[in-house]
Amino acid sequence: MSASLLEHEQIAIRTGRRSGVPIIIAVHSTVLGPAAGGCRMWRYRRWQDGLEDVLRLSAGMTAKFAAAGLARGGGKTVVALPEEMELGPGQRREVLLDVADAIEALGGIYATGPDVGTGPDDMALMGERTNHVFCKPTALGGSGDSSPHTADGTLAALQAVATGLDGTRSLRGLRLAVVGLGNVGARIAAALAQEGAELVLSDIDPGKQALAEQLGARWEAPEAALTAEVDIVVPAALGGVLTDVTVPALRCRAIAGPANNQLATPEVADLLQARGIEWVPDYVASAGGVIHAVSVELDGLGEDDAHKRVLGIEGTVRDLLADAKRRGVSAAVAAEELVRARLGAAARLGGAARFDAAAQLGGAAPSA
Ligand code: PHE
Repeated sequence: MSASLLEHEQIAIRTGRRSGVPIIIAVHSTVLGPAAGGCRMWRYRRWQDGLEDVLRLSAGMTAKFAAAGLARGGGKTVVALPEEMELGPGQRREVLLDVADAIEALGGIYATGPDVGTGPDDMALMGERTNHVFCKPTALGGSGDSSPHTADGTLAALQAVATGLDGTRSLRGLRLAVVGLGNVGARIAAALAQEGAELVLSDIDPGKQALAEQLGARWEAPEAALTAEVDIVVPAALGGVLTDVTVPALRCRAIAGPANNQLATPEVADLLQARGIEWVPDYVASAGGVIHAVSVELDGLGEDDAHKRVLGIEGTVRDLLADAKRRGVSAAVAAEELVRARLGAAARLGGAARFDAAAQLGGAAPSA
């Protein structure tokens, strides 16, 4: 597509009426169904940096749902907090209500969920003003925290990677570096330790070193962990860590983790391929959270069945890696083709199928 054309269906930018904070909602695609994607609350030097972030993140959600075979489109919210702003509890409430109003104004073409900087309690608060919210606490009828499921899905992806590397899905004895120990990264690290993996752990917050000690892991600064000599690097923090500067310095055999938008630019996938480093597209490895939320909240599945669907990521990754290998392309290319094929098929099906998908959410059908 021409670089001068907007790839997204719609972008809503507003100043929160109560909070005065910039709120940006990008609806990338509703071809597979109404869009969904988390609400990221993060500090940006300029709100325009938040706009760039939300454009990439929402496109990633379209790919995430398509690759997971779910009837949802891709969207995302970024609350672009000014760097110097400290949010008190009252102000945080104002921000969240402003976000909820902005979502409600979209009439159901987009529903949000938790992301970096937000959690189930925030979803409950937004739920006061809009129904288009996933992952409210279970006591309030939602599917609860998505991070354990994102972690489970990533572990399933790692088992598929291990199979590709050594022919066994066991992670015992493998060396892994987990870069980022937030809600998801910390859970992955604990599970890997439990499995008997050899761990390098890191976070920008030095306070997380205690977790490394507790798990018997080696502690490193983030750049050192990323380039550590290990079997698999697990990016679990913010995006953009794989660049034309970092990739030449990597000493791992494979990369798979839950961080969204790991590649600084799409071409970095080719650099990885040229170095013989297996990279599992982030939108495939990180899909556990949305798979669980959609399965429970929209498809009415019980916890066991939802969990099984999350674990299906192992098969998805195994098939992708095998397909890529057979054809001599990167897993990134194979995954992109899968996404494009699913979007293309849905676009050809047209209005009726899209309306059905929209009706599941109880929201308005996408109009175009
Ligand atoms: N943070 C989740 C993701 O990026 C967003 C999400 C979770 C959205 C659950 C909806 C439901 O995948």
